[in-house]
Amino acid sequence: SELQTLAQKLNALNLEGELPRYPNCFPEVNPVDIYRAYLTSILAPITGVDAAIVYPALQWTNTLDKGDMVLPIPALRIKGKKPQDLGEEWVQKFPESPLVQKPTITGTFIQFFFKPEKLAQLVIPDILTRQGSFGQNKFLGLQDLTDPSKGQKKMIVEFSSPNIAKPFHAGHLRSTIIGGFLANLYDAAGWNVTRINYLGDWGKQYGILALGYKKYGNKDELEADPINHLFNVYVKISKEKEEEETEIKTLKEAGEDTTQLRARSIDEKAREYFKAMTDNEPEAIQLWSHFRELSIKRYKETYARLNIRFDEYSGESQVKQEQMDIASKKIADMGISKESDGAVIIDFSEQKGIAKKEASQLGVAVIKKKDGTALYLTRDISEMVQRHEKYRFDHMIYVVASQQDLHLKQLFKIIDLMGYDDLANKVQHINFGMVLGMSTRKGTVKFLDDILRDVADKMHEVMKANDDKYQQVENPEATADILGISSVMVQDLSGKRGNNYTFDINVMTSFEGDTGPYLQYAHARLCSITRKSGLTPEEVNTADLSLLTEPHAVNLIRIISQYPDVFVNTLKTLEPTTVLTYLFRMTHVLSSSYPHLKVVNQERELQLARAALYDAAKVVLANGMKLIGLSPVERM
Ligand code: ARG
Repeated sequence: SELQTLAQKLNALNLEGELPRYPNCFPEVNPVDIYRAYLTSILAPITGVDAAIVYPALQWTNTLDKGDMVLPIPALRIKGKKPQDLGEEWVQKFPESPLVQKPTITGTFIQFFFKPEKLAQLVIPDILTRQGSFGQNKFLGLQDLTDPSKGQKKMIVEFSSPNIAKPFHAGHLRSTIIGGFLANLYDAAGWNVTRINYLGDWGKQYGILALGYKKYGNKDELEADPINHLFNVYVKISKEKEEEETEIKTLKEAGEDTTQLRARSIDEKAREYFKAMTDNEPEAIQLWSHFRELSIKRYKETYARLNIRFDEYSGESQVKQEQMDIASKKIADMGISKESDGAVIIDFSEQKGIAKKEASQLGVAVIKKKDGTALYLTRDISEMVQRHEKYRFDHMIYVVASQQDLHLKQLFKIIDLMGYDDLANKVQHINFGMVLGMSTRKGTVKFLDDILRDVADKMHEVMKANDDKYQQVENPEATADILGISSVMVQDLSGKRGNNYTFDINVMTSFEGDTGPYLQYAHARLCSITRKSGLTPEEVNTADLSLLTEPHAVNLIRIISQYPDVFVNTLKTLEPTTVLTYLFRMTHVLSSSYPHLKVVNQERELQLARAALYDAAKVVLANGMKLIGLSPVERM
């Protein structure tokens, strides 16, 4: 295997003895875990605290001046002595070490600074050999760490989930970006990930759409641009339907008999059409499934631009009626639901085992309408059960806007009440705030493609401003497209998921500040250093890393060695900003080091060492960018 064992790594460092293996210690993929294990082996005897407590207490830092690792003294839970006094006692006893400098104390923390030379020797070659997999930890997704033959844990990420013939709005955009990121994250953590797109593709509105298409539709336009065409058709027919309804209402108020009008109305015809769809009548189904297929084909093209693909295009239409009947019956038999005015509802305040406050938050859910049609919620209940039967997943994430918090709470609670409590424990709602003021420069937008086109145009203008560079970019349109997408994605992923943010095309496309173009520029610059140095990877691999002694070089080594810990931390927060904040910290260190760490016109040995450092930084930057879904560019 390409992975070295801990023992081998320690041998290479000329350290004596063997270190025990702690839970969550993965020296094969995280060089910093070697330091954790090593510090634990020193600290356990000094503090008299069990290694199992010391190891997890050692924390990484997110500012370099706090050290490379800290130990919060209170985390060792020693009673009766002041943390400060304990710290001083321990630091006194801390031996001379080849790996870490003499520790220091600030407040109730002990700070450790790694010795740069060994750190460089440990981390840089590791990054250069592991390349794209550096920072990933495929052990985390194993069913059983001690027995890899038991396979990977199974994850479902449901995301994007737009509605056919309706706008692909900001909520869908965020779901797409965040969901894509989460799927990548779990993939990189060794889970077996299935990406599902749960389309809004069923309901009376598709009866309305079919009527509209018969009236206003055009085959060529549909083929050319199904998403826009279907939307336009839907808008037209809906307007007509509304006008008709107002008219009927007016006549009725005037005392006229509107029965005939009503029977011939769009609303009634749509209801009949949808009934035909539900009854699986070939003609009705054919048109609808044609719309669905063309829309999916088009969505796939857009998703590809965002580096996103789905394993399954599921959707409300794919939930089987029999399944819903079985679920409804179960819910009724268990006394969870009741009839109310001809509809079937669940009143959460009447359920056993739900606290008053929670019950009042959950309120009342409608399971079946008066006319017997199943609802959004009912479909979700059956879909979840169906998915579990199909995939036997260990965990499932729904990436859906905060506006649907209540819907998902109700869904999870109903699943629990139905006795599927193990299933209820496996599902998770990852929510997110709203995007405010999303518009292109031409006006408010309805479709993702319009936004991406507009942002790409803007980036293309920016690129043209530097003609020298522009001439060297092989495919400027494609690059502008990638830069535009990076702008949108970075702005979207920068804050905490739960926060709202304002969509601002000028801010996001700027090279100043923490933006997508800034990250892309940082990557392109590293690529340019490699190109200009003319050194081959083989040559770079022979570098004498002990030459990297300047403070800027040391800080760069320290910060890139944090990446695997950032990855693990991201799995805890599930916040894309955990990765982005790190990438910006690291690119700031990087850009401040250029004047101090030149590669051209230096002595060859120094050139090699610095090239190795920059190559390693490039790998880390590219890995982080890919994790959040960006395609790093080589020139721009
Ligand atoms: N299509 C829905 C909408 O646009 C989102 C679906 C969310 N997922 C779910 N399982 N309900 O609002």
